[in-house]
Amino acid sequence: MGQGVLEAPGYARREGALWCEGVSLGAIAERVGTPTYVYSTATICNRLDALRRALAGLPVHIHYSVKANSSRAILALLKSRGVGVDIVSGGELHRALTAGFNGRDMVFSGVGKTAVELERAVRAGVKSINVESEGEIVALQKVAARLQVVVSVALRVNPDIAVDTPHKYTRTAELGMKFGIPHDKVMRVARAMADMPNLKLTGIAAHLGSQIDDVAPYARAAHCLVQFKREIEGAGIARIATLDLGGGLGLGASGDRDAYLQGYAEALRVIAEEPDTEIMIEPGRFIVADAGVLLTRVLYRKSSGGTEIVVTDAGMNDFIRPSLYESLHDIESVDTAEEPSLLANVVGPVCESGDFFATGRLIPEVGPGSLLAIRTAGAYGYSMSSNYNSRPRPAEVLVDGDRFALITERESDADLTRREISAPHWSED
Ligand code: LLP
Repeated sequence: MGQGVLEAPGYARREGALWCEGVSLGAIAERVGTPTYVYSTATICNRLDALRRALAGLPVHIHYSVKANSSRAILALLKSRGVGVDIVSGGELHRALTAGFNGRDMVFSGVGKTAVELERAVRAGVKSINVESEGEIVALQKVAARLQVVVSVALRVNPDIAVDTPHKYTRTAELGMKFGIPHDKVMRVARAMADMPNLKLTGIAAHLGSQIDDVAPYARAAHCLVQFKREIEGAGIARIATLDLGGGLGLGASGDRDAYLQGYAEALRVIAEEPDTEIMIEPGRFIVADAGVLLTRVLYRKSSGGTEIVVTDAGMNDFIRPSLYESLHDIESVDTAEEPSLLANVVGPVCESGDFFATGRLIPEVGPGSLLAIRTAGAYGYSMSSNYNSRPRPAEVLVDGDRFALITERESDADLTRREISAPHWSED
């Protein structure tokens, strides 16, 4: 396995107990309680450095995809490491701006941006708005004309490239899916845009899906983007300065990441060979997934019809990926390094049969009070959490060397009802 420096440096055992960098996870649970997300600064930096090393020499700009983990302390860390961001909503624009990013550090993706969100992005001077439909172009032209500015726009294309991801919900680039402008309509839309005085077509973008463990689809997408660039420029419609390959990088937990990243860089090379063309990529999961664990305590053990059931204090509202995508996340005992010997379902307290973290999984022998770490939870964990069952969302903690900091407070019961109006003020018509 070509792991070496690419292996997540953040988590290791000391005398059997699991630590994040120089801090014991047990100590964090004592101080902050559970459930709590914990992130390793070293792992985040390691992933970013690995990606940069693999792409060295290519004209690439990395735009971290905020949706993967949108906590502002994480955004600020990434800002300090010189990356830009990919945002998909007015809320993410707010987060990125207040974490220290400028509009020129941002690209704005998304299939359903409202006129208000488009206006906020234009006012913030977002570097590129990646549009996904003719209707959106018309809406954006109206906003830009009203504000009397010319806005840089990229066409997000649907290249009809199938990818093999762990779940069908994480594939985005086949015809019939909601994302992007179908490849057979791209030239028509590009021509229509040439007539819009306040829009300047400067880029083409694609995003294939998430957890893509094979680099071949990236090579196909890169060729497709280059073809469109040549066609649009050949027809004299616009000069395309940026080709954006989206996110989706895979190979988090296992596999030869060195070889994967080299293959990925190779796939991008065809773009680098185009004169004066900048490459943009939007990784989310690759940067943050392995950096995070969800700490949770076992509440109860029970057995039903021969099935052992371990009930934890975290539920699907805290971490929905196993329920939504049947995703596999290693579950480790924080306290001991014992070999897995218990075949069990690990479930949460939420009143849904789909509330589980693992089914029929061999885990270490655990009981009430045991502390568990659910691994690879740094991406799409907290950012997809909810208050279902009126459960306050967990805390988030960032570790850096021998120190740790609370970066998101645990919600309180009062937070749950803060915006509710229990005695409605009725209006007529
Ligand atoms: N760019 C665009 C336009 C995207 O839609 C996404 C993810 C990314 C970049 C980042 O993709 P990443 O590198 O993180 O795979 N909630 C799912 C993943 C859905 C992501 C949606 N878009 C999960 O938990 O795996």
